[in-house]
Amino acid sequence: MDMRNIVMLTGAGVSAESGLATFRGPDGLWEGHRVEDVATPEAFARDPALVHAFYDARREKLGTVEPNAAHLALARLDAEWPGELLLVTQNVDDLHERAGSTRLVHMHGELKKGWCLRCNERFPWAGPMGTGAECPSCGTVGLVRPDIVWFDEMPYEMERIEDALRRCDLFVSIGTSGAVYPAAGFVQTARYVGAEALEMNLEPSLASVFFNQSRVGRASELVPQWVEEVLASPPCKGGD
Ligand code: OAD
Repeated sequence: MDMRNIVMLTGAGVSAESGLATFRGPDGLWEGHRVEDVATPEAFARDPALVHAFYDARREKLGTVEPNAAHLALARLDAEWPGELLLVTQNVDDLHERAGSTRLVHMHGELKKGWCLRCNERFPWAGPMGTGAECPSCGTVGLVRPDIVWFDEMPYEMERIEDALRRCDLFVSIGTSGAVYPAAGFVQTARYVGAEALEMNLEPSLASVFFNQSRVGRASELVPQWVEEVLASPPCKGGD
């Protein structure tokens, strides 16, 4: 049987029930900060201590949270799905990999990685980074930044993602508001090549109109239910 290719996109909503805050709360702030004060290259140049403190706090918080049922279900799908599959996450937390997902792309970078602006190496990072961090590769002090894709920067692995989207039969978006491009446009690429598109979110997202189907509710309930459905009757290419 020729299995379908699945591409999934996750956002902050998939980690919300693990206790990590989403970005677009009702007050328009992001954990008390304006986005432009903590998530742009200009912010880092202007006030590196503030930006480091923000990401150091978020990295520390990771140690206090666990993957939830949605992460675990997606990892199960990764392990059991016989066709192609790619999980693209906008999240910088490590909950998908801790749940066991391996076919995974962190398009907006990772909290637990650093990037040296002197030698351009990227490396795992645990604990605080701060303005005095030393690069484990070249030894330079003070030029290590969080390996996070900030606004106006290019997301990672776009070629791999675009390739997967162009070949996918099913595109699934989970827990993302559809406010940030290019991720918000993935559904349109998938639909353009004839894929089905399913959205699972607490509320209809800004991109809902592009999906064939929207399921509204909590990721921890909707995602395990959907994974059961998919694994119970793996669809044939060109079928149904
Ligand atoms: P947002 O905070 O914009 O959206 C989170 C979405 O998840 C909202 O639509 C919520 O309704 C939904 N949601 C909340 N709790 C949920 C739950 N338990 N189950 C299902 N859905 C739930 O976060 P993102 O869309 O991920 O970029 O934001 C995209 C990007 O904007 C982030 O990656 C980040 C940010 O600026 C960078 O850092 C570059």
